[in-house]
Amino acid sequence: MKKELCSVAKNFTFSIDVDKKLALFDISGSIAHVQMLVKQKIIKNHDGKKIISGLKKIRDEIRNNSFVFKENDEDIHTAIERRLNELVGSVAGKMHTARSRNDQVVLDEKLYLKNVMPEIENAISSLQSVLVDKADAYFDICIPEFTHFQPAQPVLFSHHLLAFVEMFERDKQRIQDCLKRVDICPLGACACAGTSFPVDPEFVAQKLTFQQVFRNSIDAVSDRDFILETLAVNAMLMLHLSRMAEELIIWHNPLIGFVELPDEFCTGSSIMPQKKNPDVLELIRGKTSTIIGNLTGMFTLIKALPLSYNRDLQEDKRFLFESCEISHLSLILMAEIMKGTKINREKMENACHYGYIEATDIAEFLSGKGIPFRQAHHIVAKIVGFACEKGVRLFELKDTELKKLGIDDDTINFIKNLDVHKSIHLKRSPGSTGIKQVKEEVKRWKNILK
Ligand code: ARG
Repeated sequence: MKKELCSVAKNFTFSIDVDKKLALFDISGSIAHVQMLVKQKIIKNHDGKKIISGLKKIRDEIRNNSFVFKENDEDIHTAIERRLNELVGSVAGKMHTARSRNDQVVLDEKLYLKNVMPEIENAISSLQSVLVDKADAYFDICIPEFTHFQPAQPVLFSHHLLAFVEMFERDKQRIQDCLKRVDICPLGACACAGTSFPVDPEFVAQKLTFQQVFRNSIDAVSDRDFILETLAVNAMLMLHLSRMAEELIIWHNPLIGFVELPDEFCTGSSIMPQKKNPDVLELIRGKTSTIIGNLTGMFTLIKALPLSYNRDLQEDKRFLFESCEISHLSLILMAEIMKGTKINREKMENACHYGYIEATDIAEFLSGKGIPFRQAHHIVAKIVGFACEKGVRLFELKDTELKKLGIDDDTINFIKNLDVHKSIHLKRSPGSTGIKQVKEEVKRWKNILK
């Protein structure tokens, strides 16, 4: 090529603003690569030493923020090589022997993920711990569990909190699983065909703590499944956070008042002095859309992309960094918010008095006596309909009224003694809201998370 890239095209193609985040990973990768080149006698020992000492200087500059980016630094790889040249001279040019930016960039991204995904996993564990501690501290509070967002059945508040702990556990499992595919070192694939130099990809992989080495150079430079998976894992994690945020927002509404959110994570209104708005939670909910958008963006980027490396792939980093950063921060914030959230026992237990949420227990009692469940359901529907018309709760119905509805003495006695606590005590199936079951779960989670 005879001419330089035109300046508008330059701005359009440069990625330094985004990929400078990879600087330290890029340097680690380069050091391992140069060590391999020396070991394999591809470059001389003293050249290797010079290059590595230069790379270490650059690492310091990056760490103490004194690295100066220049106008022609297209991406982080070229910026570091340019600086290396300034520091150690033309020997810097030997660093890129038997390597291409195509395998280098995949390596950097994988090193980034090997670093950031465990941090996200830890943040999930911290949030789980807060939830389990709350479940323990408020173990016996009853709330109406909703289905169709209508009062359904009484449950322990702790049982409800542990539902979130379960879903976050799956997120951690998904992180672990997708890290298996991140853990394949691509270095040595070079541009797409490998190299005529006697490289040792196994050595580099070990230095950089990768479990495996790529098996196909074309796949190694064109594969971005590991980013898709990461984005999908992040998207699901954020979905979970958005569901939790939504419930807290609803619970914080004074009409419901199950909780009061901590001041430090709420804002006032510029016009309505009484307001305490759950902005942070709203933004966790809102930013979930960005994460889902990034996943869609990444799918669209890869769709129908021919093998092997294409410059389109450069766009993957925007999605990747943004998604990881948002989900990590959201987790940290959610844990803090949950920690500082005040639980209103009275409001929760009062809410159990609406909606006849013990009705299912009567139907189960009747069918326990041999009445087919469908029929029992029908009978209880009649009782509830009657109580509803009178505007009383089930235990307030008079014996005579229940008798008129065809209810026997035994069942009347059951209804009279039925309240939400009794309802919960009756639950004994595995995984239910029964006292014993939930107590064991709290204990189990405490053990897992300690
Ligand atoms: N900045 C590029 C990226 O992120 C690095 C690889 C460039 N490779 C190339 N053949 N131009 O994908």
